[in-house]
Amino acid sequence: MSDTPRLTTAGGAPVADNQNSMTAGPRGPLLMQDVHLIEKLAHFNRERIPERVVHAKGSGAFGTFTVTNDISKYTKAKIFGDVGKKTEMLARFSTVAGEAGAADAERDVRGFALKFYTEEGNWDLVGNNTPVFFIRDPLKFPDFIHSQKRDPKSHLRSGTMQWDFWSHSPESLHQVTILFSERGQPKTLRHMNGYGSHTYSFINEENERFWVKFHFKTMQGIETNSGDEVAKLIGEDRESHQRDLFTSIEEGNYPKWRLMVQIMPEADAEKTWYNPFDLTKVWPHGDYPLIEVGIMELNRNPENYFADIEQAAFEPNNTVPGIGFSPDKMLQSRLFAYQDAHRYRLGVNYTQIPANKPRCPVHSYQRDGAMRVDGNGGAAPVYEPNSFGGPVDGARFKEPPLKISGDADHYDHREGNDDYRQAGDLFRLMNEVQKTHLLDAIAGAMNGVPEDIQRRQIGHFLKADKAYGEGVASRLGLSVADAAE
Ligand code: HEM
Repeated sequence: MSDTPRLTTAGGAPVADNQNSMTAGPRGPLLMQDVHLIEKLAHFNRERIPERVVHAKGSGAFGTFTVTNDISKYTKAKIFGDVGKKTEMLARFSTVAGEAGAADAERDVRGFALKFYTEEGNWDLVGNNTPVFFIRDPLKFPDFIHSQKRDPKSHLRSGTMQWDFWSHSPESLHQVTILFSERGQPKTLRHMNGYGSHTYSFINEENERFWVKFHFKTMQGIETNSGDEVAKLIGEDRESHQRDLFTSIEEGNYPKWRLMVQIMPEADAEKTWYNPFDLTKVWPHGDYPLIEVGIMELNRNPENYFADIEQAAFEPNNTVPGIGFSPDKMLQSRLFAYQDAHRYRLGVNYTQIPANKPRCPVHSYQRDGAMRVDGNGGAAPVYEPNSFGGPVDGARFKEPPLKISGDADHYDHREGNDDYRQAGDLFRLMNEVQKTHLLDAIAGAMNGVPEDIQRRQIGHFLKADKAYGEGVASRLGLSVADAAE
């Protein structure tokens, strides 16, 4: 007997012939009793699960987070315990708008999703490679994404839809400026930064709250592709970022990022000229400097892409004691959206999939549901309170109360919000080459868009910086005098 394993059906029975189906005579029709053939075809029909509604194309790897600096005065989270402490983690990077087969090098924001398997539960930081976002009210998220996906009739991506939405949404200007800068075309996934983007909270042992922003600075350095390089690259290799990440890790060239945080004392939130919970704003580093925390290293490729990366379920609601949420309404809505998406995409018991399974004991009263494979709690009590020693809640994990006030209403989120200042600051920070790249890229993307939309958008660029508006207008052959107010 050779050592080669014997092929079996899913039920474990040996398969006698995997080359020829069973027929009535050599030319005859198939027989229902060829159960191996029927099972094989039926399983194949079910190989695809729904792709993520956004961020469908992605690459991922496992790694380690190591603490390099003590930040225990801000947070009691055990992941940030002693200097030198290591925690296993998983990362998935993605483009946002393209489908599962999209070309990696395209201009887009990149997803930067992280899952840290801490001893107190999974901490997921589901961010992007940009510190801000296009919108600040989650009610607009489906509209925004529809405008970036395909036109319902032509089934083509549409500059008209994109710029129509953005020109009606001036809060997008800051992120649009980043997207069309060189940062919108990272050379590889290793050569970009990551950001938690939202404001989160830290809670320390004294139960004090701080507001916090997370930054992952690439230790490979920022590198980007030019428009020409992207066009050439996509023509040659649609999987350039997947290939680069996989190969680097296979070769032992492990990419690293330095985690830094910005900390804002809780009371400062009342004092800044911007709303610190507004996802379209950054916190000036001069006011809130970066503090080093640790290093994230990706050092293990998944053995099986589908098992670990396609089935990975990142969810901003996964926090641990010492890390909490903030009033950012975008974040608040994401606390619902991701679990809901996973239940649809992977099923209600998706936390049992090894990539998503916490590496600490889980004690809950949730039972049953499709594909429950973990013993379902065995004979343990299924309700609480009970008299049989079932798990109980722990008041020591309560966060300090958060003062909230105001009448319930649909408040105009644009009122009193300056959508132009930080976008203009970013433009002014660019050198001449970077400005030219930005203006060329924007004008290229706006080419062919109806003129009224172009004029409305130029009005926004002008308000951010005169040279910004003039640069786009002149490239489109328009006069700034005609820009919409
Ligand atoms: C993926 C919703 C804003 C980063 C997703 C998915 C949904 C979603 C439904 C697919 C999840 C899945 O099927 O696994 C939303 C909603 C938002 C929002 C409703 C706002 C109202 C954001 C923001 C960021 C972000 C602001 C970054 C700062 C990501 C990333 C993924 C993702 C990185 C891919 C995660 C992965 O790799 O599996 N989002 N999103 N999203 N989102 Fe969002």
